[in-house]
Amino acid sequence: MRKIFLAPSLLGANPLNISGAIASLEDRHDWLHLDIMDGHFVKNLSFGPEYAAALRRYYPGSFIDTHLMVDNLDVILPQFIEAGSSLITIHAETEGHLLHASLMKIKNAGLRAGVALCPPTKISSIDESIFELADLVLVMSVTPGFGGQKFIASSLNKVRELVSLRAVHKYNYLIEIDGGINENNITQAVLAGCDAIVAGSAVFKSEDSAAWLSKARDAIEEALKDFE
Ligand code: DX5
Ligand code: ZN
Repeated sequence: MRKIFLAPSLLGANPLNISGAIASLEDRHDWLHLDIMDGHFVKNLSFGPEYAAALRRYYPGSFIDTHLMVDNLDVILPQFIEAGSSLITIHAETEGHLLHASLMKIKNAGLRAGVALCPPTKISSIDESIFELADLVLVMSVTPGFGGQKFIASSLNKVRELVSLRAVHKYNYLIEIDGGINENNITQAVLAGCDAIVAGSAVFKSEDSAAWLSKARDAIEEALKDFE
């Protein structure tokens, strides 16, 4: 059975008690998803590089999945590489930067590199050199910027397209989905082909985050048993 990575998004946690929120996961997560917003690429602000560095310091063994929703990558990307993420995902739509060069910068630093696509961005608009290089392709299933939005179901078509493209070209990327994931659509996302699932509100606004993750994992395993 293929491995599915569950990645709770800290943006959905109580900002005044992030360590309590992480403790509430009881290690039933795989990755910690860290959303970085600059108030320019998206209409919101979130965490800075010191925050990512503190996560690395306090949770040395954790896989930190950093999602950069920022312009000005020339300044911001090196700061997050330095902070010690495990994987850094940059957006294909980021203003005026060289996507291939930025992915190389991440990989040359020994980290995994991802590319994210906003809902209107078509797969055909991305050059194959990007897919060859990417360790992960992140399909946004909401407009980036805020947690708690409604899942855009047609994103699953993009996931299916990425699965076929990967098979045809023998690419190695994992497929991640982010935005509006909840207990009603999580198995659909996995069955469409997602390898990594981000969930913010669903995990942290539930009464028991650890129980939510266990239930999700059981539902996924059950669904994969029937379909694989
Ligand atoms: C949105 C962020 C997401 C967000 C998801 O721009 O990239 O990671 O935290 O939150 P939910 O799961 O609440 O949609
Ligand atoms: Zn995100």
